[in-house]
Amino acid sequence: MAAITVLPSLLSADFSRLAEELERCEAAGARRLHVDVMDGHFVPNLTFGPFIIEAMRRSTKLPLDVHLMISDPVRYARDFRSAGADAITIHVEAVGPRDIATAIDRVRVTGAQVGLAFNPDTDPELWFPHFHTVDLVMFMTVYPGFGGQAFIPQVRPRIRATRSAFPSLAIQVDGGINRDTIPLVVTDGADRLVTGNAFFKDADPAGFLRWAEACKPARSRE
Ligand code: DX5
Ligand code: ZN
Repeated sequence: MAAITVLPSLLSADFSRLAEELERCEAAGARRLHVDVMDGHFVPNLTFGPFIIEAMRRSTKLPLDVHLMISDPVRYARDFRSAGADAITIHVEAVGPRDIATAIDRVRVTGAQVGLAFNPDTDPELWFPHFHTVDLVMFMTVYPGFGGQAFIPQVRPRIRATRSAFPSLAIQVDGGINRDTIPLVVTDGADRLVTGNAFFKDADPAGFLRWAEACKPARSRE
């Protein structure tokens, strides 16, 4: 399995000081950043669009991992790529099984890495045939829309099933990822950890990040 990467989720950053917050992530040792786009339709919350991502792009060289919680991700993929997204993750629930292959292609041609995200109650196995065509899959361990929610442990068997079917795929987890839940998801096979509150509210984000990236799977899987 690949090394663990922690992705600070900028949803928990102070947007009145965005450039400083991006510097804080870099200073803490982050190698990749997570950016949450919400449209008030796919999820019951609104954040921002390509304009803010362009501003982030001007303030950091770190790869931007853009999580599209929007109903029509394909329509906007090129705009997010032009704004500076390095990876674009779309929700399978927003696209549906009939159009997923085309959607993956449409994101791929923008030049971005492609990710597929799964809500906590979506069974990933139905989508396994598409996993060899993407760069990462991401399990939502909360219902998407808000930071600071509690981790949903029922997602864990899905992470394990995916890791055993795809030993070298990047498996990302998002929602309620913190010092208590990181050992669990790493044991299940996740290697990319999105952390909003746990990173930004830690008194020592660098120490938190170092600890998380050194986390090893427990020897016997639960
Ligand atoms: C939730 C977002 C997450 C969020 C995670 O819909 O996709 O990326 O920022 O925040 P925490 O880590 O605080 O649960
Ligand atoms: Zn997210």
